[in-house]
Amino acid sequence: MTTRAGITALGAYAPSTVLENADLEKRMDTSDAWIRTRTGIRRRHVAAEDEFTSDLAFRAVEDLVDRFGPEALDGVDMVIVATNTPDALFPATAALVQHRFGLKAGAFDLLAACPGWLYALSVAKAYVESGQSKKVLAIGAEALTKLIDWEDRSTAVLFGDGGGAAVIEPVDAPYGLAPMVLGADGGGAQHLHAGAIGRCLPDGTKLDGKVRMNGREVFKFAVRVMDTATIEAIDAAGLTPDDIGLFVPHQANFRIIDAARERLGLHPDRVVVTVDEYGNNSTASIPLALTHALDEGRIADGDRLLMVAFGGGLSWAAGVVVWGGGRYGDGRRPTAARTSAAPLELGGTT
Ligand code: UT7
Repeated sequence: MTTRAGITALGAYAPSTVLENADLEKRMDTSDAWIRTRTGIRRRHVAAEDEFTSDLAFRAVEDLVDRFGPEALDGVDMVIVATNTPDALFPATAALVQHRFGLKAGAFDLLAACPGWLYALSVAKAYVESGQSKKVLAIGAEALTKLIDWEDRSTAVLFGDGGGAAVIEPVDAPYGLAPMVLGADGGGAQHLHAGAIGRCLPDGTKLDGKVRMNGREVFKFAVRVMDTATIEAIDAAGLTPDDIGLFVPHQANFRIIDAARERLGLHPDRVVVTVDEYGNNSTASIPLALTHALDEGRIADGDRLLMVAFGGGLSWAAGVVVWGGGRYGDGRRPTAARTSAAPLELGGTT
């Protein structure tokens, strides 16, 4: 029997502080109606002043352990934290998580903008399938609101904080991760960037440490790349769009998600939407959305899930996973029904 790397445990965390659109109306020249109709976002969860990415990552792993049991972490020999907002440049945030769980494991951070968690999955897959690792803990965690310029309404309303974590280890076919599609185009760096260690971008764009974005350019890029990357990932899995049970895209803007869904010819029932509740929490967005889908009973053994993300850099990634093959139970924790599964009042012209 062929062995592939699969996702066998999952968990997520969002900070308890919630910033509603109405709260932002009081701080800047914006409106709940503008934010909802242009992005689908109703609220976002924001890390406390003394809460950092390693804390969000830690909580996400705690949630994974609560759901799947401590044995899910037994034998983890590599920890990867995909993040754009590490606690420090070094040590790696992954090493802080490794230490907090007392794992005997290597640890490193991976920076690939919003698709970072999918990049981490691809690394975990390669490590597990080559025999380099037996079990990898792949985390996406982000305290992005710490890099927001609250005077810049064009970015301030979009982002939130959170974490998601998964265990990757060998599973028997047909379960597991199909080959993943990874892409980058540093030529578009000026359209979405953050942070600074002293220089400007190659085209002369000045860096000031904050998240800066050309929303229209990123929107067009996102719609284009969601289309091409998803088709490539479905091909790489030897499938067609009809075979996809659930579409779990990066949660940046409901209009981008809906355009991608439509291009794939998928019914709205087959898409996970959490951007309304969390905004865009970058590397955390897909594992958080997966965890929601699990709780809502939308993922069953053997389902083919299509994941895709895009972001700064510019960068993108996509992949299909056949869910199941784990040995720790289904991890489901039914939650109160969400009141706003899919925002409906779309508008805007981008
Ligand atoms: O992980 C990847 C992260 N990035 C993304 O996914 C971003 C992709 N882009 C987008 O989601 C959209 O481009 C935005 C939501 C950022 C903006 O929506 P848009 O429909 O492209 O709006 P726009 O930038 O063309 O701006 C339209 C108007 C402008 O006013 P004028 O020039 O028409 O008078 C903006 O100044 O909306 C104004 N505006 C706002 N108004 C109220 C921009 N931000 C706001 C705001 N509240 N927060």
